Amino acid sequence: MGLKRKILELHKKREKALKGGGDKAIEKQTAMGKMTARERVISLCDPDSFHEYDLFVEHEARDFDMDKKILHGDGVIIGTGTIYGAPVCLFAQDFTVAGGSLGMMHARKITKIMDHALKMKVPLIGINDSGGARIQEGVNSLAGYGEIFFRNTLSSGVIPQISVILGPCAGGAVYSPALTDYVFVVDKISKMFITGPEVIRTVLGEEISMEDLGGARVHSEITGNAHFFAKSEAECFEQIKKLISFIPWNNTKKARKFEPKEPKPEYKISEIVPGDPRQPYDVRDVIKAVVDDSDFFEIQELWAANIVIGYGRMNGDTIGFVANQPLVLAGVLDVDSSDKAARFIRYCNAFNIPIITLVDLPGYLPGIDQEHAGVIRHGAKLLYAYSEATVPKMTVILRKAYGGGYIAMSSRHLRADFVFAWPTAEIAVMGPEGAANIIFRKEIMEAEDPDKMRKQKVKEYKDKFANPYVAAARGYVDSVIEPEETRKLLLHAIEVSDNKSVFLPQKKHGIPPF
Ligand code: HXC
Repeated sequence: MGLKRKILELHKKREKALKGGGDKAIEKQTAMGKMTARERVISLCDPDSFHEYDLFVEHEARDFDMDKKILHGDGVIIGTGTIYGAPVCLFAQDFTVAGGSLGMMHARKITKIMDHALKMKVPLIGINDSGGARIQEGVNSLAGYGEIFFRNTLSSGVIPQISVILGPCAGGAVYSPALTDYVFVVDKISKMFITGPEVIRTVLGEEISMEDLGGARVHSEITGNAHFFAKSEAECFEQIKKLISFIPWNNTKKARKFEPKEPKPEYKISEIVPGDPRQPYDVRDVIKAVVDDSDFFEIQELWAANIVIGYGRMNGDTIGFVANQPLVLAGVLDVDSSDKAARFIRYCNAFNIPIITLVDLPGYLPGIDQEHAGVIRHGAKLLYAYSEATVPKMTVILRKAYGGGYIAMSSRHLRADFVFAWPTAEIAVMGPEGAANIIFRKEIMEAEDPDKMRKQKVKEYKDKFANPYVAAARGYVDSVIEPEETRKLLLHAIEVSDNKSVFLPQKKHGIPPF
């Protein structure tokens, strides 16, 4: 056979393999508002940059008449491409082929591209659209998932791992994403659960819709499993591209530097925070008043909104922001907000991203619900994460910094490198009203006019402690600064921290309160 005929043969084979589950299955997929697996990887990567491998892989299952079934590419696409010029490895499960279920060869394709990503030290993006372990392949499919979970763990903290949930994902198809760094979901399309409605009906005799069980909103607002929520696949891909622009390719690199830009003039830093410590405001406006171009990329916006996390740039460099949000629950720390911030801090630390912390909180949320939900254990994660982090850490105390909240929010005592406080800062064991009621209880009760005495004692306490100067007098705060000076000082702090190195005791690893 001459070369021409061989090439013709290749074309024919390719054409067949590219069919996925066939026209009917593809029609069903698109009718649900879903792109096909190939359309997804192509639209995510830079134009003409995606290259596919293992197109001709076939499954080897024999039981349950599987030997009579052709599963093109065994239900998954793998390849490499670039996003804004950054190299990435990708896999995308093809639901049109046996529901994207994971058999042995399907798993081998995924682990092949995972190994490649780790070896080349580039981000891994997995598009999950799968019914989980392929039932007909038994323990081989379970083994496949085990191999994936192992590699997820091995790659954790070395390369960024991004999961996109674009279909009904069950079992292993959600546990692998749970081991990765970022999970993206799309309204109405993404579903995540360990056991699907069918199993629930069989085992518990209960009817529940996939949406209520584990839809995109459930995981963005209730469980915190998802980090980014989009209304369409196209919007989701734009979010992924933006994330890739903010994070380094691997743990030996820094994120790409962009052209520095001043914040937008509409964010006037001295006009955002109200003087009255009980008045709420949106802390994201403070972040936008200090970051380049006022461009703040928020993570887990809809979950545990009493703390805000995300990326912005300062002088063109990526910075991770952690900020109490007085707009939600007065910005208190609780179980979920501690988990949310702690994980983000560990990500920033693993990937050389300096952290800026903005503080304004009344402390940890009191009450039986939080105590029983384990606020001691979860809250401790935040202490652990900040203490362990060796990247440059800058803290700005905007207003309230009470009690454990003061310590936990990147205080000097957990080794913040720079601690600035605005003149409105109040650093104390608790708020003036609560404190006066406790330490002056006797005087207040015995006074002729207890109300007047209480007010007097609250004022006494406020004058003494509700300011930044007691902490500044001990050197716990490095500088009391005007709000207008914040960006300038932070830029300087980042600049002089570039060569930070810290020596920690030798250990295999710590035991964080997981
Ligand atoms: C084999 C599967 C499959 C699976 C779906 N299919 N899941 N085949 N193994 N796990 C096939 C279906 O038979 C069907 O084939 C096609 O994919 C499309 O599935 P539908 O059910 O028609 O689609 P839909 O109604 O949208 O429902 C999707 C679904 C449901 C919710 C994912 O299929 C489902 O519940 N699947 C099983 C989920 C599950 O329990 N997986 C195992 C998890 S255990 P045809 O030929 O009819 O088109 C696991 C182990 C690891 O993953 C756990 C680690 C901790």
